[in-house]
Amino acid sequence: MGNQTTTKEKEEKGMKDEVRDQLRQKIQEVIKDEIQEGINDYIDSGNAEGFGKDDKLNVKISNDEVDKIIRPGVKTNEIDNLCYEFINDHGAYSAPLFYRGFPKSSCTSTNHVVCHGIPSNKVLKEGDVLNVDVTAFKDGWHGDTSRMFEVGKVSVKAKKLINTTYDAMMKAIKILKEDIYLGDIGSTIQNYVEAQGFSVVQDFCGHGIGKAFHEEPSVLHYGKKGTGEKIKAGMIFTIEPMINAGNYETKTLNDGWTAVTKDKSLSAQFEHTVGITKEGYEIFTLSKN
Ligand code: MF3
Ligand code: CO
Ligand code: CO
Repeated sequence: MGNQTTTKEKEEKGMKDEVRDQLRQKIQEVIKDEIQEGINDYIDSGNAEGFGKDDKLNVKISNDEVDKIIRPGVKTNEIDNLCYEFINDHGAYSAPLFYRGFPKSSCTSTNHVVCHGIPSNKVLKEGDVLNVDVTAFKDGWHGDTSRMFEVGKVSVKAKKLINTTYDAMMKAIKILKEDIYLGDIGSTIQNYVEAQGFSVVQDFCGHGIGKAFHEEPSVLHYGKKGTGEKIKAGMIFTIEPMINAGNYETKTLNDGWTAVTKDKSLSAQFEHTVGITKEGYEIFTLSKN
């Protein structure tokens, strides 16, 4: 405990820094390639063959692995280390690491943090709710997913917020098929969430994903039925509603990443990566359990 660092720890840290430098280089190469290929490249790949091969990896992390260690007393850094190790052990890269300067392998967003919480020495305590968001990059493809965790026993209100957020995401996923409108997704989520007395965050949205981490289209979690772009078979995007117990407004802290509710009310989020087919959809980030 405390600030003492053993020689062994120092050696391990040194090794990790080296690995991270190599990773940074690789990721930068990948990002460069993607820009050259053009941002809509993945749509041209039809039903994105290649996708679905190893995209279950990130789900294993967030559902199965992280679940094992979440308890009062655990630091969000420890969750991040687990994500980092797990992704690397499986021959993949963690997409958030060094993404636009983001310093960690996962986002850990507790209580009134809406999204993009940076893993740190923050210690989880009984009653906290927490979103862990992971994105694995493997064999040229990204899979992006997040879910909520409860630390010990949480309030009835927190449970209701979490359940409502999950149900909102699933209701929106279930309407997916070729030729519906992006606005149908937003209105499904907004109508359901507001009827439960909660609000939909407007400052962040879902996104196209594939060979690049974030692409067109933007998938808003609020809006009107029959508006916006029509979706097509072969598209891959995320649905990742952020739902607040209080007002929908957010602000970003001085670290440039952490987004919180303006009124300090609780916030919850779930995320899946989905592919669109003629008749429906496929969820690429489902857990086996
Ligand atoms: N995974 C987040 C999303 O759902 C993005 C995180 S970007 C990071 O789009 F840089 F904060 F990691
Ligand atoms: Co996402
Ligand atoms: Co995500």
